[in-house]
Amino acid sequence: MPARHPTTDPGGRRFAPIAMTDQNLLDPGFELTLRPMRYPDFYERYRDAIKNTWTVEEVDLHSDVADLAKLTPGEQHLIGRLVAFFATGDSIVANNLVLTLYKHINSPEARLYLSRQLFEEAVHVQFYLTLLDTYLPDPEDRAAAFAAVENIPSIREKAEFCFKWMDSVEKLDRLESRADRRRFLLNLVCFAACIEGLFFYGAFAYVYWFRSRGLLHGLATGTNWVFRDETMHMSFAFDVVDTVRKEEPDLFDDELREQVTDMLREAVEAELQFARDLCGDGLPGMNTDSMRQYLECVADQRLTRLGFAPVHGSENPFSFMELQGVQELTNFFERRPSAYQVAVEGTVDLDEDF
Ligand SMILES: [Fe+2]
Ligand SMILES: [Fe+2]
Repeated sequence: MPARHPTTDPGGRRFAPIAMTDQNLLDPGFELTLRPMRYPDFYERYRDAIKNTWTVEEVDLHSDVADLAKLTPGEQHLIGRLVAFFATGDSIVANNLVLTLYKHINSPEARLYLSRQLFEEAVHVQFYLTLLDTYLPDPEDRAAAFAAVENIPSIREKAEFCFKWMDSVEKLDRLESRADRRRFLLNLVCFAACIEGLFFYGAFAYVYWFRSRGLLHGLATGTNWVFRDETMHMSFAFDVVDTVRKEEPDLFDDELREQVTDMLREAVEAELQFARDLCGDGLPGMNTDSMRQYLECVADQRLTRLGFAPVHGSENPFSFMELQGVQELTNFFERRPSAYQVAVEGTVDLDEDF
């Protein structure tokens, strides 16, 4: 038998799990035993993520400043709103990681991955902080961007969507009942499929639209690495969902399917409201209609990955996003000849990238 730490604290709270063979991933506790390893795939995801280390200092934003001056007023409005969303998006995800995912996914292998993900979210926050400091030299503009979650309705609506699904699990200390586990699953799916997998993908599409026109290469470079990280965060979360489905298939009933489908519809609407704000009456190659089509296509991919039926039937209208997965990996190889190892095979599914 592997060594165990005490099973209760003085207050009677159980930290260690019940016997290993009876344990499921969502059973309450803080399992410590790594050998024998119950979830080696999560450990491999942690190792793969380490190979993807990058730093904000590697991103050169200088040419972006000259590009910003060339933008039309409509494009400047779009980029201003976009960076305002970036100012808080990853912090919300990091908070949920600590407050919910780390607490309830009871596997030391998975918690290794989540620790690494938390570091990556911190790098993302630092990247966007640096971006805003560079793009917005005026302190008042900067302060307004960081307060966007309070002051700009289209960003506030997205934040409220996130907070709603955080609040729904806030009081859950332990996932005792079936209802508790469903609530947790909805939070997990919300953050992976709707926030990292839809809100962020929408934001990346604007960045790559600029890049396809030869603009804002610094932002695009950092976005390449954030994009890859987010893809892996989402894949990890979906692996957790798959594991729970295997261990507790009765949780995945019609009611859950309906809840997840409704959640994704709501996320598409929130992101569309943001698109209306960003695009106004439309910009060349970017408008609300094409963004709707893109978001619906992405939402269908998320539903399919989760084992549920797609609902929109939309095609991806953005050719610059179809190329994204390949370009990002190519660029990474070109820039990293020897200093870093790169995890590619088995970690990034290019079919799911846009
Ligand atoms: Fe992030
Ligand atoms: Fe993330």
